[in-house]
Amino acid sequence: MQDAPEILVADAGAVCGAAVLYLPETTSTQDVARDLIKRGALAGTAAIAGYQTAGRGTQGRSWLSPPGAGLHLSVLVPVPAKPEAIPWLTPAAAIAAVQALRGLTIAPPRIKWPNDVLLGGMKVGGVLTEIPAGSSLAIVGIGINVHAAAAVAESGVTALDAWSLHPAKRNDVAGRVLRELDHLLGRLLRGRLDHIKEAWRLLLDTVGQSVAVERDGHVVSGRATAVDGSGALIVKTDTGGTIRVEAGSGAVVRLMN
Ligand code: BTN
Repeated sequence: MQDAPEILVADAGAVCGAAVLYLPETTSTQDVARDLIKRGALAGTAAIAGYQTAGRGTQGRSWLSPPGAGLHLSVLVPVPAKPEAIPWLTPAAAIAAVQALRGLTIAPPRIKWPNDVLLGGMKVGGVLTEIPAGSSLAIVGIGINVHAAAAVAESGVTALDAWSLHPAKRNDVAGRVLRELDHLLGRLLRGRLDHIKEAWRLLLDTVGQSVAVERDGHVVSGRATAVDGSGALIVKTDTGGTIRVEAGSGAVVRLMN
């Protein structure tokens, strides 16, 4: 079931979403955000699309965005002054998505390292953070499958509607996400990483699980045991070694349970 196409976001966060550009259809809200940066848009400006014809995921994957079915949102966020805070933009956005979905779902949303939002162990959303060369603004993109059509026939993919007592409205989900982003990114930009690190550790489904790490054509299996202070996943391999997997390094981590 689809909700009304208009997304107005009447009650967004004070900074994130203070200005919202809604496009019924576009290639990718990440592209729109890049263009907004070139045209001098301010931090906090958000682009939302009803339908993306070329939605992007991480690692060059596409993000399927059928018309009217999902939330496709990109927000301009200042690049944190402290370099150690930059890798936490994606986790902070994933936590914001989880907090936004809480209260709407019958199962608790969780996170698969590093950027997948899960419901019932299946992917309901994801985060893509991009920093255009030379820009002082990062683009934090969040996609959430709201209605069933967004969760096409891909295995391991679900939509919010399947886990809600009442069909969700994309406008409500957008408002919730923007308010949570406002709160968490505000903390991050003030250098307050402790809360974000702790929330992420508690929400991660990956730690404690058997995983396969695919890197440069090689697959290593083992058990994810921790995340370190910069958010990298620590894996004890089946051969007795330890590897550190950084988000954005190109490595793919699959849960094996
Ligand atoms: C992933 O899980 O691989 C990240 C998916 C990110 C999808 C969102 S939808 C809004 C924004 N526009 C895009 O093209 N991608 C992000």
